[in-house]
Amino acid sequence: MELVLLGPPGSGKGTQAKLLAERFLIPHISTGEIFRKNLGEGTELGLMARRYMDQGVLVPDDVTEAMVRQRLTESDAQNGFILDGFPRNLAQGEHFESMLTELGRSLTAVIYLVVGRKTLIDRLTGRRVCPQCGAVYHLILDPPKRPGVCDVCGSALEQRRDDTEETVIKRLEVYDQETAPLVAFYRRRGLVQEFDGEAPVEVVTRDIVQGLEGARD
Ligand code: AP5
Repeated sequence: MELVLLGPPGSGKGTQAKLLAERFLIPHISTGEIFRKNLGEGTELGLMARRYMDQGVLVPDDVTEAMVRQRLTESDAQNGFILDGFPRNLAQGEHFESMLTELGRSLTAVIYLVVGRKTLIDRLTGRRVCPQCGAVYHLILDPPKRPGVCDVCGSALEQRRDDTEETVIKRLEVYDQETAPLVAFYRRRGLVQEFDGEAPVEVVTRDIVQGLEGARD
C-alpha cells in the first residue's frame, strides 16, 4: 500500500492516516508533523518552517521534497507508506511522480476526503492536541475525559499555533488555490478514491478500507 491522503485542512487526514497505518502496518508520514517535531526540538528546519506555518502558507517546495525523499528511503517505508500533507501543489505532485519512478515505486491510490467549509472551520478551531504523545481531541466532537488533560499520557493539551480562526481561513484559501488542483491531476491518472469525510471517524475508516480492498481484488 503506497497511499496519499488528500483533502483540505481539518478533513481528517491525520485521524484516518493513523488508523490506516495501524491497519496496514505501514508508516504514517505527515510533513506537517515532521515540521512540528523539528520546531519542538528547535532545529533550523523547524524554525524556518515556522515562519510559513504560522502564516498558513506552504513551506518552500525544495525543502519539503528533500525531506519526503529522505523519509521514503528509511527501512520502515520499504513495504508501503501513507503520506499525509504531501504533495500539496502541482509542482510537488510532478516532482513526487519523478521521485517515485526513480525509487522504482508507484502509488496504489489517492484517498480524497470531502468535507464542507463550516465543518472544517469548526473542527480546526476546536481541535486540541497533546504535545507529548500527539493524541488529537476536539472540544465538542471528541473531548478528553478531563478538560484540558490528555487521556493517554496526562499532559496539558494545547491548541496548534495555526488553528486560530484567522490562520485557518488563510490555510483554506491556500488549499483551494494550490492543493485542490491535485485532485484533477490524480484523477487523470485514475488513482483517486473519494470519500465523505463528514461521516463519523469509524465509518470513514471502514469506507476507505472497503474501497482499497475492492480496488486490490
Ligand atoms: P498539516 O499539518 O499537514 O495540516 P493540514 O493539512 O492543514 O491538516 P490538519 O492537520 O490541520 O488537518 P487534518 O486533515 O489532518 O485533520 P485531523 O485529522 O487533525 O500542515 C500544517 C502546515 O505545514 C501547512 O499549513 C504548511 O505550512 C506546512 N506544510 C505541511 N506539509 C507541507 C507541504 N507538503 N508543502 C509545504 N508546506 C507544508 O482532524 C481535525 C479535527 O477534526 C480533529 O480535532 C479531529 O478529532 C476531528 N475529526 C477528524 N475526523 C473527524 C470525523 N470524521 N468526525 C468528527 N471529527 C473529526
